[in-house]
Amino acid sequence: MKIFITGASSGIGEELARSYAVKENELILLARREEKLKTLQSELLPHAKSVEIIVADLTLFDELQEKIKKIGAVDIAVLNAGISLGHSSEITPFDDFKKLYEVNLFSNHAILEILLPHFKEQRSGKIVFISSLASLISMPSSKAYSSSKRALNAYAEAIRYKYKPHGVDVINILPGFIKSELTYKNSFHMPFLLSTKEGVALIKKAIDTNKKFYPFPLRFYLIILFFNSLPQFLRDKIVNSLNN
Ligand SMILES: NC(=O)c1ccc[n+]([C@@H]2O[C@H](COP(=O)([O-])OP(=O)(O)OC[C@H]3O[C@@H](n4cnc5c(N)ncnc54)[C@H](OP(=O)(O)O)[C@@H]3O)[C@@H](O)[C@H]2O)c1
Repeated sequence: MKIFITGASSGIGEELARSYAVKENELILLARREEKLKTLQSELLPHAKSVEIIVADLTLFDELQEKIKKIGAVDIAVLNAGISLGHSSEITPFDDFKKLYEVNLFSNHAILEILLPHFKEQRSGKIVFISSLASLISMPSSKAYSSSKRALNAYAEAIRYKYKPHGVDVINILPGFIKSELTYKNSFHMPFLLSTKEGVALIKKAIDTNKKFYPFPLRFYLIILFFNSLPQFLRDKIVNSLNN
């Protein structure tokens, strides 16, 4: 299988690349940090059929699309790259907000604009989005991140309806907290925190078994569902008590 993974230089993307590094698979790994990608490429080459790296900034859309055009058709596209702005209740500077949306949302469409015709033509394949449980609950300190991931859910849903009849599976994964560079900077308690390996094993299984919508860990998801079922005035009280 030919497998394309964005955000492969660290965290979930890097570990997912490792888990796909077997003799049958051709890996295409994208991120900005060339050295990290090269190190991973050397590590994985003995195990995979091939490992190609693409050094690209997801926010430079024209350059990105030129590089994606060279890939051609893939069997699995894991659109994993994403950023957070840390957690602050202050007003987010516009440029930071915009950049976050460029990485977490717009880059996915920039990539898929090129890849979707291939998927449609080959009438098979998987498009995997890495959203977040944070898309289901929006805290004052994570408005940019949560809203970008909620928008990603809507985008993934639309792509699923459109491409399922063409034989393409769309898989939207909503992880809770997983150890990575992204969560390393969080100073608060992260409930149900998983190691990178544990989190990626669950993600890989969800991809292998074609889960359409996969929020995990289950207990964390159920707590969020319960919270969201409460009346708004009660949710206001709970959130305000947490933030004061
Ligand atoms: N960790 C969690 O608890 C958690 C929970 C829910 C969802 N997620 C989601 O999981 C995904 C992976 O996150 P992670 O936790 O593995 O974080 P991470 O370790 O910080 O990895 C982020 C990856 O995205 C790449 N990236 C960031 N900005 C980029 C840009 N402008 N152009 C190209 N690549 C860029 C980074 O590579 P370079 O810096 O080398 O470019 C890196 O490989 C994200 O979408 C995140 O929102 C994570």
